[in-house]
Amino acid sequence: MKIVVSRPLPGNALDRLTGIGHDVKVMHPDRSNEEFLKAAAQADAIVSMLSDQLKAETIARLGSKLKIIANYAVGYNNIDVDECSRRKIYVANTPDVLTDATADTTMLLVLMCMRRAIESVALLRDGRFHGWRPDLLLGLDLKGKNLGILGMGRIGEAVARRAEAFGMNVLYHTRSGVKKHLPYPHVSFETLVKESDVLSLHCPLTSETRHLIGKKELAMMKKTAVIINTARGPVINELELAQALAANKIFYAGCDVFEEEPIVNPELLKCRNAVLLPHIGSGTVETRNEMAEMTVNSIIQALDGQKPEFAVNRID
Ligand code: GLV
Ligand code: GLV
Repeated sequence: MKIVVSRPLPGNALDRLTGIGHDVKVMHPDRSNEEFLKAAAQADAIVSMLSDQLKAETIARLGSKLKIIANYAVGYNNIDVDECSRRKIYVANTPDVLTDATADTTMLLVLMCMRRAIESVALLRDGRFHGWRPDLLLGLDLKGKNLGILGMGRIGEAVARRAEAFGMNVLYHTRSGVKKHLPYPHVSFETLVKESDVLSLHCPLTSETRHLIGKKELAMMKKTAVIINTARGPVINELELAQALAANKIFYAGCDVFEEEPIVNPELLKCRNAVLLPHIGSGTVETRNEMAEMTVNSIIQALDGQKPEFAVNRID
């Protein structure tokens, strides 16, 4: 059967598909969207990326043979899942395997913000390090600070465990309410925004979470607070974040995701107090290999007529 892969994947997982006789077409990284969709129209299975927008009108252009769209990501806000269900196409994602890598990236951003890592590196490289000084580039301690987690799923919990090791107090707010197995206080959204020294976003992007954080929420935060986004860019109003940072309404922001990737709002780029990463949350060799293996498993299961273990929809 024909499998179209939106971009080359790390590792050798795709060899398992060719090994059992499937015809695998891996698109060139510089291909246009049109070229991808043209190839995808003939496919029995597609491996998509979070950068591929598969909305209803695009899905309508895909062939009737298509059985599965395996998204090489945990987030799947780029796919109209309801439309896929209507057309009896499975959608699968890659949960769990990227939890630790993404939680590590979150802590990377927390530390880089709290300790002003980018400013420090720039000072040294620009030849502005003239010797140790008691007041040189002072950051903030993690110990004893409140880490507020918005969206307490697998990644949120993994961040909480890490933050505890740094002596932080964890509090959280999540749509589904109190999680009984967790020792941390569940608080209202407003309390979370007001009380967090570090506010870290771990919710999916939905119509309810789009622009959940904007001017009003940023104004409610402590002046010394840091906000971290390793979830999805549009959860924060990026321009309003840049304005809050420029006016020093909060201390720092650490972002791995942006509203219009790969574009970063020029106002945000100008901010000294923003640490900006190019969506590398799950970007480790081990994790990206495992994501590829999982994607291939989902395709094998779907082409075999089974419901993939990590399907996010039902088609019956
Ligand atoms: C990355 O952002 C993912 O959703 O896997
Ligand atoms: C810093 O380098 C110290 O020794 O206190």
